[in-house]
Amino acid sequence: MLSKKRSLSTLSPEELILSVTYGSRTFSREIPRFEIPEEGMPAEAAYRLISDELNLDGNPALNLATFVTTWMEPEAEKLIACTLNKNLVDQEEYPQTGVIQERAVNMLARLFHAPKGASGIGTATVGSSEAIMLALLAHKTTWKKARLARELPVDRPNIVASSGVHVVWEKFARYFDVELRLLPVAGERYTLDPGAVAEAVDERTICVGAILGSTYTGHLDPVEEIDRVLSEIKAKKGWDIPLHVDGASGGFVLPFLEPDLAWDFRLPHVRSINVSGHKYGLVYPGIGWLLFREEKDLPDELVFRVNYLGGEEATYTLNFSRGSSMMLAQYYMLLRLGFEGYRRIHSVSLANARTLAKNLAGDRRFKVVGPADHLPIVTFSVAPDAGFSETDLSEKIRERGWILPAYTLPPDLNHRSVLRVVVKENFSRDMVDLLLEDIDRAASALSGERTFPRKFRRRPAVC
Ligand SMILES: Cc1ncc(COP(=O)(O)O)c(C=O)c1O
Repeated sequence: MLSKKRSLSTLSPEELILSVTYGSRTFSREIPRFEIPEEGMPAEAAYRLISDELNLDGNPALNLATFVTTWMEPEAEKLIACTLNKNLVDQEEYPQTGVIQERAVNMLARLFHAPKGASGIGTATVGSSEAIMLALLAHKTTWKKARLARELPVDRPNIVASSGVHVVWEKFARYFDVELRLLPVAGERYTLDPGAVAEAVDERTICVGAILGSTYTGHLDPVEEIDRVLSEIKAKKGWDIPLHVDGASGGFVLPFLEPDLAWDFRLPHVRSINVSGHKYGLVYPGIGWLLFREEKDLPDELVFRVNYLGGEEATYTLNFSRGSSMMLAQYYMLLRLGFEGYRRIHSVSLANARTLAKNLAGDRRFKVVGPADHLPIVTFSVAPDAGFSETDLSEKIRERGWILPAYTLPPDLNHRSVLRVVVKENFSRDMVDLLLEDIDRAASALSGERTFPRKFRRRPAVC
């Protein structure tokens, strides 16, 4: 066996020949876990060691838990691979990459009906989390400036949203010292109650948050009604409270599938929107977008101008350096698919999600909570008398490779659990059938029934 101390240069010709087999001699050494190894290893061996270890991960194609894109076409992957060495912040060095970012921001601003004539104000981000942090920070600063101008106190700012917000809203509140007023999601509605918003806001509310759609169940907050409530409050009390729409998943679906649904800059109080390019924008992880309605919604003092990259550059991001590949991949997808392409892909995903929901609803062991009304997201729970829990089913079905998370609903409904299936482009109708068969098989095994899967019971094979 090769000693840990011997370097490759000391290998005999015979040993070197051996080193080109599957993993070379490195495969007989312990893999370092806590310290950088003293000596390196051949590139091929390092690659194989790591990719073999990663085989222990789940299969992304069967990961129905994630909202994030798990498949892109080869040309997109080629573009990603050949732009991996470009830092998005280096706009002096890579001016065309900067121009493309602006184009994508403008395309999204128009998709979200930014006022005519306003140039798109926004930025690419790492994901919706960064976009939400930046949006809320802008609203906090705008609120503070307006209060200071009127010599009013600026302590105890608050945000009003539903208890179904993504954890990033809670992170923002804690990191940036803002009170988060989370309103209970009501009974079977799972969304923000506009009447409760009217009660919860005050002169210290820096913004109201609406979610399209909820991470927990896929439901949409009633943005138009909330906007109306905020207009009434402005008329009555003079508080001009902005509305931020968390369109992490819905922002890249609703414009294509329900173009007449007003949830975006068509509504006067909507001042900012975030969307994840890496969810239904159909790009691999690492891209989100933040859009402001108008230039005045982004306070100038938050935009930093630096010149250490050559020319003067303006940045409004939390991180300085970042890859440009996913931003460029987003531009690729916008050009490649166009409006019609996104519409077709999402229509198929929605139809598949609804087929899944319909079949689950027809099975007395399950109760559908989120039936994919607007987005291709299905959530369901297990009937109390089924003889197994959501967690049991999630674990059992993992034996076949499916990844379906089981989790509890938001705080006021956290006595209830659900399972979620996020239907994406690469989840075909055939996969829906396979999943239903496996759910049936897993449920039967868990409840002690030893029967053939439902599909085979219904339709005996014909020879
Ligand atoms: C409603 C909502 N907001 C924000 C996020 C965070 O998005 P990202 O993962 O792009 O940071 C998610 C992620 O699932 C989400 O569902």
